Amino acid sequence: MDAELQNAWERIQSKYKLTGQDPMSYLEGLIQGNYTKYWDYIQVDTLLSIQHPKTDYPDELIFIMYHQITELYFKLVLHELQQITHNGKNISSDGHDLGWNAALDPEFFKMRIMRIVRYFESLTQSFDIMVDGMEPQQFLKFRMALLPASGFQSAQYRLIEMSCCPLIHLVSADQRLNLKDETSIETLLDHIYWNKGATELESGKKTLTLKHFESQYRNHFIAHAKAYAHKTVWHKFKELNLNDQAHPGLKDALRQLDLQVNVRWPLVHYKSAVRYLQRGSDSTQATGGTNWQKYLPPRFQKRIFFPDLWTSDEMERWGTF
Ligand code: HEM
Repeated sequence: MDAELQNAWERIQSKYKLTGQDPMSYLEGLIQGNYTKYWDYIQVDTLLSIQHPKTDYPDELIFIMYHQITELYFKLVLHELQQITHNGKNISSDGHDLGWNAALDPEFFKMRIMRIVRYFESLTQSFDIMVDGMEPQQFLKFRMALLPASGFQSAQYRLIEMSCCPLIHLVSADQRLNLKDETSIETLLDHIYWNKGATELESGKKTLTLKHFESQYRNHFIAHAKAYAHKTVWHKFKELNLNDQAHPGLKDALRQLDLQVNVRWPLVHYKSAVRYLQRGSDSTQATGGTNWQKYLPPRFQKRIFFPDLWTSDEMERWGTF
């Protein structure tokens, strides 16, 4: 047996011996098993079978698929966030999962944050697919068939936010000071900023969109917020010693993250709402009658994950730079 083969065989043996398995049986499996094909591995058929327009307007397919693309990016974002909040997986050089690391490495931290920044940049840059890519006449028609559903009900979007910063920073801007010492997750969630975007203009009551969202996800959000009460991205940053907090590029990466998630993406998203909804008498009906003009612009929401990383002037001008 040549040296390379010998070395491979020893590594195979050591891998399977760890779990008391017979390596020869697995080699036989390799001989019997089929080749991996792209379409099986990537699940192409499944992926292409989950688009179900509710109307015959051709542009509805663009709307569905772009939302699905966004949700896939959100899943990647949550994947990176989970690695940060668990201090990063420790994988041995021969591929074994050695569990979570005991401490977070600042370079690893920065690199993961920058991955998230790039995912959001990609979403921000591609949002013109929504803004310019559908005929407004078609949009206003097929959108009515989707009520009361809204991207507002994206649970992953909320989980991303809750994984980044203490919940108090996501409380609606006018309540943040009053509730700064509040410890009950349930109370904080009762005053979460997004309630403001789901209030009926005329009656001031919760929209059906919000009622559905809460009945589907409130318990999940409470559990997530409790699990992350001390391990959001901000907590992870503060846990680092001062030297590591000053690691080159780390603070800048966190500021970029804040800006991408809380200003850049919201601004292009708002642009799409203006393009499609700010027209004629159909404008508010197509969202179920919400006050989106006063709600969506980041300068009104002033959602900031990491206020300590911004000057008071920058926070004052939030959403305008
Ligand atoms: C033509 C395209 C779009 C329009 C006109 C639009 C419109 C709106 C409006 C008016 C709202 C405010 C809540 C409401 O009234 O329902 C909203 C919220 C939201 N939409 Fe969209 N949207 C579009 C595309 C998307 C896409 C592609 C996503 C990706 C998942 C998305 C995700 C969200 C999220 C996460 C919120 C909540 C934002 C927040 O609470 O600050 N939207 N959208």
